[in-house]
Amino acid sequence: MGSLRGFYGSMVGKKVVMGVTGLIGVGFVILHSLGNLLVFRGPAAINSYSHFLKSTGELLWALRIVLIVAVILHVIAAVQLTQQSRAARPIAYTKQERQVATVASRTMRWGGALLLVFIVLHILHFTTGTIKPAGVFSPDDVYANMVTSFRIWWVALFYVVAMLALGLHLFHGAWSSVRSIGVSPPSPQPLHHRISLAIALLVWAAFTAVPLAVVAGIVR
Ligand code: HEM
Repeated sequence: MGSLRGFYGSMVGKKVVMGVTGLIGVGFVILHSLGNLLVFRGPAAINSYSHFLKSTGELLWALRIVLIVAVILHVIAAVQLTQQSRAARPIAYTKQERQVATVASRTMRWGGALLLVFIVLHILHFTTGTIKPAGVFSPDDVYANMVTSFRIWWVALFYVVAMLALGLHLFHGAWSSVRSIGVSPPSPQPLHHRISLAIALLVWAAFTAVPLAVVAGIVR
């Protein structure tokens, strides 16, 4: 227990926690974005997929708990790492160099905060139906929930913007997760950079296709 605390207390320990929890998130968004594409096969396909997931009962709850714990640990480690690196340099640089690393980490922090807000609103929107932009919500009709919502331009726009933030977050994050948990040694040929780019593009395109297809009238 003590050594676990000691490990987490170090910068490397927190980075490993960020990496592992981040990869759990990457796995989830890959599956979720591909599942959403069933909307293109019509209401029966996506609604029966949703019914199937809900019918798994305890398994679904186990997955939800893993995800919730992963998100909480990811956010706590991110906040603590930011504080730790600020404490390491209490006096700001006199001349701020806009290095690639600073731009990436700034994007990660702001993009991460936006994603956190998105996730909360998104669950209240599509899972609990607490937020009803279209005034209607049916727990048994995921297809109708998506179509009625994305017909409202600002809802579609909100999702499209959030997915841009997600794409950037995945691009910077997936690569550094792999590095932080030591799977990938430093290399002059950044293969993991290309893999991260491919994952980010796939997930971004699959998610973004749904609101855009409704706006374009392809899914109705
Ligand atoms: C355009 C993008 C997205 C669309 C259209 C979408 C759509 C949906 C829908 C329709 C549901 C309800 C499924 C059901 O009740 O069967 C859902 C649930 C959920 N989505 Fe998304 N989603 C999107 C992006 C995201 C992203 C980027 C995340 C996370 C980073 C996310 C996380 C979740 C979570 C955690 C749930 C709740 C799952 C559960 O516990 O039942 N979604 N999404």
